[in-house]
Amino acid sequence: MARQNINHRGSYKILSIDTSCDETAAAVTVGRRVLSNIIWSQVDVHRPWGGVVPDLARKEHQKHLGEVIQLALARANANSKRFRLPWRINWKTIDAIAVTQGPGLAIALEVGIKKAKELAKKHRIPLIAVNHMEGHLLSPLAQNAKAHVPKGEPSIKKMPTLGLLISGGHTQLVLVKKIGDYQLLGETLDDAAGEAFDKVAKMLDLGYPGGPIIEELARQGNPRHFQLPVPMARDSSLNFSFSGLKTACLYKLRAIPKKEKDRQFLADFAADFQATLAKAITIKLKRALETYRPKQIFLGGGVINNLYVRQQIRLVAKKYQVPVFVPFSRRLIGDNAAMIGIAAFFKAQKGEFVKNINLLDRQPNLNFPFKPL
Ligand code: KG4
Ligand code: ZN
Repeated sequence: MARQNINHRGSYKILSIDTSCDETAAAVTVGRRVLSNIIWSQVDVHRPWGGVVPDLARKEHQKHLGEVIQLALARANANSKRFRLPWRINWKTIDAIAVTQGPGLAIALEVGIKKAKELAKKHRIPLIAVNHMEGHLLSPLAQNAKAHVPKGEPSIKKMPTLGLLISGGHTQLVLVKKIGDYQLLGETLDDAAGEAFDKVAKMLDLGYPGGPIIEELARQGNPRHFQLPVPMARDSSLNFSFSGLKTACLYKLRAIPKKEKDRQFLADFAADFQATLAKAITIKLKRALETYRPKQIFLGGGVINNLYVRQQIRLVAKKYQVPVFVPFSRRLIGDNAAMIGIAAFFKAQKGEFVKNINLLDRQPNLNFPFKPL
């Protein structure tokens, strides 16, 4: 029987865990406040393979998750003292454990779920299962330990809200009718935008992960040099497709002799690819804004780190006078557990706890309910 000390609506102390892909992550949130957000990155382990190797991810999660959780608790307690907050954070005071159920790599998800179950049983704490993409979607609602949001206040009342989620595994437009009520408007039919960044970087021999390297190179490049085709520009749905762009890049690169591929060439190519991908995204964003007239836009997922992509999104949103919100810290943009804690907080408020812990299972293909345009 789980402890029944959950009666303080605004201040659930949640320990959250995410092992959906290649970051071993644990965090402590109190309501929407992030008290700690520990991310053990596996990027160096996967780099030699040029992408995430599921079995290596599983092993790394198994090796580090326990320590990452301990660190999340300790850091949260230290921050609570440091900011003179009224909470002590330890196993006796944690109200719930949140864990990512999916989507993600099955064998990686399993590590987090198994650990969450063990801890929930051991400490008699209720469990909350979270959709990783709901975490990305609600990440702009996270507040720092002092409950301060630097760039204006995103609101849970301004509905509908449009979510644009761009990561290594997903590219999605999601309509939030209210927190917990989501409609998938469109998603990628093939590669995700982050995956396209990574694959094109690989073609250019730039290293892994490709997104940040391409962004850096593109600063010195001419985005109109190669005139790459904008995918799905005339398609009337809100879906995306990036594999055609990837193939177009491959053909262009094959046609150009090696000796011409100098630093400036790489910069121009990176800039053109990045601008074309951003265009493909903003065309669909514009269509979604016209169709659904949202009151605000929430951005999440690793590609949102890209300042050029973000700026192009902001330009479109400005035309429609819709405010755009990103998480307050970069650590909340890519994969992390604090965003899982934020999504779990809203679930806790509605009493959405896992009823039978033993039956909780990974859902590698978990998605929002889809309703096409
Ligand atoms: O959200 P995330 O950390 O993990 C997933 O859930 O997939 O996203 C990782 C992806 C990678 O494909 C990476 O190349 C991309 O985000 N990314 C970027 C940038 N930083 C990370 N893409 C473009 N520009 C960046 N600055
Ligand atoms: Zn993610």
